[in-house]
Amino acid sequence: MASTLWAKKSIDKLVASASTENKLKRSLSATSLVALGIGAIIGAGLFSLTGIAAADHAGPAVTLSFVLAAVGCAFAGLCYAEFASMIPVAGSAYTYSYATMGEFVAWIIGWDLVLEYALGAATVAVSWSRYFLELLSNWGIHLPANLVCSPFEKLKLADGTLIEGGLINLPAVIIVILLSLLLIKGTSGSAKLNNFLVVLKVAVVLLFIVLGWKFIDPANHVPYIPENTGVKGQFGWSGIAAGAAVVFFAFIGFDAVSTAAQEARDPQKGMPIGILGSLVVCTILYVLFSHVMTGLVPYTVFENDAKPAATAFAVTGYDFLQQGLILAILAGYTSVMLVMLLGQSRVFYSMSCDGLLPSFFSEVHKKFHSPWKTNLFFMVFVALFAGFVPVSDLGHMVSIGTLFAFSLVCIGVWLLRVKRPELERKFKVPLVPLVPIMGVLVCVYLMTSLPIEAWFRLALWLALGLAIYFGYGKKHSKIDSDKE
Ligand code: ALA
Repeated sequence: MASTLWAKKSIDKLVASASTENKLKRSLSATSLVALGIGAIIGAGLFSLTGIAAADHAGPAVTLSFVLAAVGCAFAGLCYAEFASMIPVAGSAYTYSYATMGEFVAWIIGWDLVLEYALGAATVAVSWSRYFLELLSNWGIHLPANLVCSPFEKLKLADGTLIEGGLINLPAVIIVILLSLLLIKGTSGSAKLNNFLVVLKVAVVLLFIVLGWKFIDPANHVPYIPENTGVKGQFGWSGIAAGAAVVFFAFIGFDAVSTAAQEARDPQKGMPIGILGSLVVCTILYVLFSHVMTGLVPYTVFENDAKPAATAFAVTGYDFLQQGLILAILAGYTSVMLVMLLGQSRVFYSMSCDGLLPSFFSEVHKKFHSPWKTNLFFMVFVALFAGFVPVSDLGHMVSIGTLFAFSLVCIGVWLLRVKRPELERKFKVPLVPLVPIMGVLVCVYLMTSLPIEAWFRLALWLALGLAIYFGYGKKHSKIDSDKE
């Protein structure tokens, strides 16, 4: 039995089955893949966390936090690109690690990805609800305070009232339910919807940058790097690093491109372009956006502000655009949640097909052809987190889980170069092992900037995962019939 722990899926079989048994249509061009990446990337990280990172950690130098986080992601992104061009099958990091580091590590990654995808969707849902409330209040509608805030959360309402804990964040729960039901109805047409949402989202970011630029007050950028307060992470250079750990969330999602490998027209070429292209585009947009945002108002204004983009844009006086901005941000968040919920269901679907999870998770709906039970399961799971857990705790869990997965992917690329140097790689990470090692170092460094509670929760989550693996997954694994 112990042997299955390190048993690996055969890469050759995986690649062969991807080309012969692939029932998915190969319709995504490289441009669509970049759009898919941007669809999953630009969201709460940019429109909400930029304010927190500026107010609490980096000041106007939050732009440098974005650059630092981007460098870390680029190392991991390069490694993802090599994997995706070599093993162009669905399942992302879970499948890569099954083929390179064995079932046990694959399980850990698959389990860990719940933190990235499911809790990522919950985090974005909470942030979505903040902008939604802003929109409603602009229309003169005010929901009961108890129903818009989770129990342990502080929330500043549009009229300035501070709620110190409510009952449930109902709007966040409702959006999760609606999107999950949409996914159950099938994913056809979702690429088109996604392309539309991406265009809208990018247009809003560009509009914000272009219209906001001339309202920048240079005084707001002085000092650009506020002096450290004496506490590590509160401004100064350590603040820039702490800010990077916060805004790292804004880059999460580029790896979701790799979940669409089986739908890519020319995955060997398209995957690296999709992953790295979306990273580059988003980094440029983020740096410009945050430069304008901290130039419009003093960064201190963003303290406890969950909708800083709207706060900053208000000084431009383009009131008629304010509603459009919020609507487009809501649409943008929607595409992030869709991709996250979709990615989550695909990972659990793959794990269930491999026998590591009950077949419940891979049951496909007869009419809608979607893994509807997984979708329903995660609808409840994500809604519970979105309704009752504060956004910062959620965000930290997502970041630590994702950074952990990225580190394992970096190690996997290096391992495979040593063990299977002969495999065809259409895209190769330069300077191996330097780039993977740098990837791991940056990820671990960013992890150390997160609060200790996040580490405890990660450990707890992994311990629960191990209990399930040894109690169920290992016994039901189908690897024996498949291993190399
Ligand atoms: N990167 C995604 C966002 O910022 C998760 O919403």
